[in-house]
Amino acid sequence: MNLVLGIESSCDETAVALVQSDRIILAQRIASQDDQHAPYGGVVPEIAARAHAQRLAPMIEAVLAEGNVTLGDCDAIAATAGPGLIGGVMVGLVSAKALAMASDKPLLAINHLEGHALSPRLADPALEFPYLLLLVSGGHCQILSVEGVGQYRRLATTIDDALGEAYDKTAKILGLGFPGGPAVEKLAREGDPNAVPLPRPLLKSKEPHFSFAGLKSAVLRAHDSGDHTSADIAASFQQAAVECLIDRLQVALGRSGPARNLVVAGGVAANMNIRTALETFAQKNGMGFSAPPLQLCTDNAAMIAWAGCERLEMGQNDPLDFVARPRWPLDPEAEPARGAGVKA
Ligand code: KG4
Ligand code: ZN
Repeated sequence: MNLVLGIESSCDETAVALVQSDRIILAQRIASQDDQHAPYGGVVPEIAARAHAQRLAPMIEAVLAEGNVTLGDCDAIAATAGPGLIGGVMVGLVSAKALAMASDKPLLAINHLEGHALSPRLADPALEFPYLLLLVSGGHCQILSVEGVGQYRRLATTIDDALGEAYDKTAKILGLGFPGGPAVEKLAREGDPNAVPLPRPLLKSKEPHFSFAGLKSAVLRAHDSGDHTSADIAASFQQAAVECLIDRLQVALGRSGPARNLVVAGGVAANMNIRTALETFAQKNGMGFSAPPLQLCTDNAAMIAWAGCERLEMGQNDPLDFVARPRWPLDPEAEPARGAGVKA
């Protein structure tokens, strides 16, 4: 059995975890920087990098102490090496390199998206490859066929905003603060999902890609019109987003061929409304449904340590000169979505 120390620092969460290959999370800590970024309404890269640099070393010490292990007991050191805000990624990756060098243990440079993609397997030992994955976070919105560790076929991506980004912008428009996803979900419970006519971008289009920029603009217009309550706008936004997800998944399913399981991961996977809709969709299509527990959905280090465990068991590791990557697609062969901007 292997024990992996994982570090996550690609956005605004500093996180450290110790995970065993038998899926036991020995110890973990997450320090959110929400309060530092809130005044700006979004993550400020420079502030994020400085906060990671300040917090990481004491958190690593604390997690090792909590797990009652030393660095020498670990079989490998894993850290997010991209994609993400490069200053923060470098803080985590360089720390992992130093620990790997000092303890003479292998380094695993983990793709953050691979961390999300494999996280459902940490929670669910029965979840086998291949599975259809909806990866929805603040920076990404993709449908992938996960065929094995390191084997990802991207079926769809967003041509503009990620879904988490659309949630955050909706929250900003409605004055709900940052990060917005949980706040929009909460307010939506009090609203009428059919009250505000909002568009369903790309609904019924042949390619399974996503688009959320038009929905966000429509939310802004609905808010500015003064004709609707914030709760009705939040509920109608969420309803439109869910309908888009299901419609796009149906098209992707046609492309991927039959899949035994539908899996959701990433920060937006914490949304109960979306989870319920996905579960119903999976049942209708004769698929099992798997969603990680909420604390494994948003950014965390257990998923990075777990991806490390999976890769270590396949005999993989990375050189100490591995360079941090601001962009790092899971499926480098995937063609860009038509109409897409520069986002990965
Ligand atoms: O995976 P994550 O923690 O960070 C990225 O890699 O982006 O995802 C963060 C995103 C944010 O946009 C946040 O608003 C969204 O996930 N989110 C939610 C919920 N919880 C977090 N969106 C909708 N409903 C939620 N309950
Ligand atoms: Zn993430």
